[in-house]
Amino acid sequence: MGRFEKTIVNENGVDRRELGYYSTPNFISTFMTNAMLEINPHGKTALDPCVGKEELIKELYENNIDIDGIDIFNHGDYYYCNFLQKDFIDFYKEQKANLLFDQKINLKYDYYIANPPYNCHEVDYIRTNKKELNKLFGNIGVHNMYSMFVSAIIDSAKDGALISLITADSFLTARMHNPLRAKILNTCSIHYLILCPTDLFWEQKADVRTTIMILQKGKKYQNLVKSLNRPKNKEELKIKLEQKDFLETPIESIINASNDNLFEFVIDIPLEIQSLFSYPRIGEKYKCITGISTGEDGKYISKEKKGGFEIPFYKNPGSRKFYCEPDGFLTNDYLVYDKEVKNFMVRNKAYMLKEGITCSSMGLPFGACYLPAGSTYGVNANIFCEKEDIWWLLGYLNSSLVTYIVRGILIRSNMITSGYVSKIPVVELKKSTKQKLGAIAKKSFEHKISPKDLAVIIQAIDTILFDELSLSEEIVNEIQNFTSNLQSRV
Ligand SMILES: C[S@@+](CC[C@H](N)C(=O)[O-])C[C@H]1O[C@@H](n2cnc3c(N)ncnc32)[C@H](O)[C@@H]1O
Repeated sequence: MGRFEKTIVNENGVDRRELGYYSTPNFISTFMTNAMLEINPHGKTALDPCVGKEELIKELYENNIDIDGIDIFNHGDYYYCNFLQKDFIDFYKEQKANLLFDQKINLKYDYYIANPPYNCHEVDYIRTNKKELNKLFGNIGVHNMYSMFVSAIIDSAKDGALISLITADSFLTARMHNPLRAKILNTCSIHYLILCPTDLFWEQKADVRTTIMILQKGKKYQNLVKSLNRPKNKEELKIKLEQKDFLETPIESIINASNDNLFEFVIDIPLEIQSLFSYPRIGEKYKCITGISTGEDGKYISKEKKGGFEIPFYKNPGSRKFYCEPDGFLTNDYLVYDKEVKNFMVRNKAYMLKEGITCSSMGLPFGACYLPAGSTYGVNANIFCEKEDIWWLLGYLNSSLVTYIVRGILIRSNMITSGYVSKIPVVELKKSTKQKLGAIAKKSFEHKISPKDLAVIIQAIDTILFDELSLSEEIVNEIQNFTSNLQSRV
């Protein structure tokens, strides 16, 4: 969020943000309904657990489906559904409470359709009910409302039920949502996975990245997965949905597994790129860590170097690559505060003041800069390796290939944590290639290269890497197209 104003009051005087209320456009609900009806045209009943103003259910109604609709708020006249005003999470809890031993909920519904609430009252709601929610959702976690909804819907569904969702897409790759991904994969068949364009909800002043996912409860229904990478805009999505212009691939091709039982859902990632993930990851080869959180940067970090604040502090290179000035100067007494102040934390003390690489944490571009010895760093990712690996690794991390891997595959939100940087594969390179990359990176650092002069440097690095990895022209074009259109492609 951040792009738009905070309060948006609807005609009932309720802040839409509080409820996580956004209307799904008609062409999306048409697609979500028809896709389910094509898979099973014979169902009789449906549930929308956050029915809003019935935006998703008109077509189910027109197909003679008997629909129950739940919503925590009564948004007005309900025409297509049997409406129940209730918190769906409470509803789920009650269903679960009635179960004996290892019984399953198995609600009667043949279809579920939902656009679960997101960016809403969830912070307060989760904080207030944390203990109970933790008990209810177990390892799925209670990170946000939409993931709890997805988990509860899957649990409620009987074998063969179809589940059509449009929802925030951070669960596709976020590390904390690995258990939700595992649940989807272990209990459902995936029919569609479609990334929606970023402008889909802009008219409603919502800047959220979403995905349409159509599942069927039970593993035995799995055929090829129909997927679509994020179109440039709403118009393009409309056309692709109408023309059914999807990629059809085996389920394995949308799972990007690493060696630590973690995996991501990836869409339309060329096999050549997927194969790079068999190389060891940054976190396996090097130390990839976070550092200091002060709890109050204004008090402990000075913009200028001055008496008592003399230790360079790096926290987010942002769009800068190779070289960046420190973001400020940390108090010389940081180790004292670590001991004495509750919110002041110095993690990984053994790696403080060491020479390394500091990576961006926020913002669309991904960049890495040289971290000089004697520096400290914040909660962004920082990499520590042998001295001879620093410069070529810096070159590699700033390549378009790595931007593509980070932004197109590993994470599509704006916050790049050390967990994600740890997952970047480190491709095997010839010694001479490393030397060339290292020389470019070192020179760029020494010349204090500024973001506006980076293009030609990155191009030189890309040429060396593409050449050594023998990537096809198609892939090279795709990577370059992606990195030059980050705003719309991420
Ligand atoms: C993103 S809107 C979707 C509205 C409509 N179904 C659509 O697709 O256009 C989410 C809806 O969830 C409702 N909601 C929020 N928290 C809820 C809860 N705990 N239980 C049930 N509904 C909830 C909101 O009132 C809102 O109508």
